[in-house]
Amino acid sequence: MFFSGLVVASLALWGKGVDAAFGLTTNTDTYVVDAGSSNPLKFTVDRTNCDITSINYYGSELQYQSTGSHIGSGLGSATVTATQSGDYIKITCTTSTLTHYYVAHSGDPIIYMATYTTAEPSVGELRYIARLNADLLPNEEPFGTVSNIDGGTAIEGSDVYLVGSETRSKFYSSERFIDDQRHCEHTHPLKFFATTDNDRRVWICPPSLHDPQSIRDIRRRTLPPVHHSLLVSTEIIAKANITSDINTNNVGSYTGLYWYMNSGHVQTESYRQGLHGPYLMYFSRSGTPSTDIDTSFFADLGITGYVATSGRGYVSGTASGADSSLDWVVHWYNDAAQYWTYTSSSGSFTSPAMKPGTYTMVYYQGEYVVATSSVTVTAGSTTTKNISGSVKTGTTLFKIGEWDGQPTGFLNAASQLRMHPSDSRMSSWTSTSTYTVGSSSASSFPMAIFKSVNSPITIKFTATSSQTGAATLRIGTTLSFAGGRPQVTVNSYTGSAPSAPTNLDSRGVTRGAYRGLGEVYDVSLPSGTIVAGTNTITISVISGSSGDEYLSPNFIFDCVELFQ
Ligand SMILES: *[C@@H]1O[C@H](CO)[C@@H](O)[C@H](O)[C@H]1NC(C)=O
Repeated sequence: MFFSGLVVASLALWGKGVDAAFGLTTNTDTYVVDAGSSNPLKFTVDRTNCDITSINYYGSELQYQSTGSHIGSGLGSATVTATQSGDYIKITCTTSTLTHYYVAHSGDPIIYMATYTTAEPSVGELRYIARLNADLLPNEEPFGTVSNIDGGTAIEGSDVYLVGSETRSKFYSSERFIDDQRHCEHTHPLKFFATTDNDRRVWICPPSLHDPQSIRDIRRRTLPPVHHSLLVSTEIIAKANITSDINTNNVGSYTGLYWYMNSGHVQTESYRQGLHGPYLMYFSRSGTPSTDIDTSFFADLGITGYVATSGRGYVSGTASGADSSLDWVVHWYNDAAQYWTYTSSSGSFTSPAMKPGTYTMVYYQGEYVVATSSVTVTAGSTTTKNISGSVKTGTTLFKIGEWDGQPTGFLNAASQLRMHPSDSRMSSWTSTSTYTVGSSSASSFPMAIFKSVNSPITIKFTATSSQTGAATLRIGTTLSFAGGRPQVTVNSYTGSAPSAPTNLDSRGVTRGAYRGLGEVYDVSLPSGTIVAGTNTITISVISGSSGDEYLSPNFIFDCVELFQ
């Protein structure tokens, strides 16, 4: 009796909790990898097309069974090979322009990945999507249900939905790359699973900033500054720096867990090719993975395009001069790679380990460019480079918002990241059409202006007799849609109509995006335009295009400043 009881107990353990044997099984159509982790992880890769067709973790099938997990919508066909060497198993999937790697390290509950490209996939974006079992993994982190479209009705394009009274979209799971440490799909530990024993979590993790082969090598950067000058300006212009893309999306039948390497969504620069990664899928029962998972062993695995730490260099220095109430970021980019880092509060910074080369080096307050420079990185050394700059305008008569390259603080700005402008949880776009300098707060100034919704916006400003000289009204924007740009009137003066901004050919504000090319428009006001007493300024959206409501031409505000 005693003996058989032990057997039963150990069998139960074997089902879930006992170390499995690390190893590779080669079948006719599949490779099966046992990661040898203490919470058993076994995954299956189709030898014809590189799809993951099964992910068995801690006794549960986490892979959606009708469609695999893969790059894009699947490679279609690929040459798939597998090797085991000591504690590592590497599966290599090769097409004419793309090589995708799956790597397992004995004992790690992790599917390590990297993707090497020589051309952009024909679908126009490069992403890994794990299609996971929505019954077991319905929940998304860190933004909850914002991208859960299960049971919803499409209200815009085929990607913004109404679920009950809430607007939802896969795009609302976006997070700036610099801030995206990890995102996750998981079971509901409190609802129908009574204990954490039944929790399962699947995380997508970018490598840590300390990792020499950071994904940040490849992530898309933005184009150089674009400046629309209505009359005259010499300022450095805000420039896009960090963009983001879809992270998670429960569509009902499966839950999508994404790693975007690039896409045409509000695309502001050319795609980079080369090695993207390593990135990884981490499995846990309740724990949260470290943000500093070591992937340096990729250097020993024959991964095309991998550059080890020894082949890299650093930039360190001190940034100074910008508004210290905002975060400071230093950004390096060239056609092959890009990197970011926040500075310390004192402005000191050290870059991630960078590939050798010459980089444009940019200093931002928030996301607004205050200085641009250049630096050359050599392998095995640290280049010292300080950078200094600040926003330069003049004597401020009024300023609405901050020069931070973001609509932060304006009406509906926080909501816009996670819902559609039509969402009933948004504040009314039209209830406060007049902003009065001195008494209105920035939170009543709309973060965006739509030709068919809330154009024009009126600003009332009381000037003194000493403020009636020539002045500049500067309108900073972060993203435009359908050619939307500002035209201004000040009392009886009408500013000229600026030419259309570069068309990114992508919906923006309605998909939770705010970051584009960051056009800044200056309106030079001749002396006498501003009068002592009350002044009325209007900002309208102009465009040769039209559209309904929130798809009418529009742009997003960064800051509005009148200065002399
Ligand atoms: C860079 O800035 C630091 C901190 O202000 C300063 O100590 C150092 O001398 C500067 N280096 C150069 C080359 O200007």
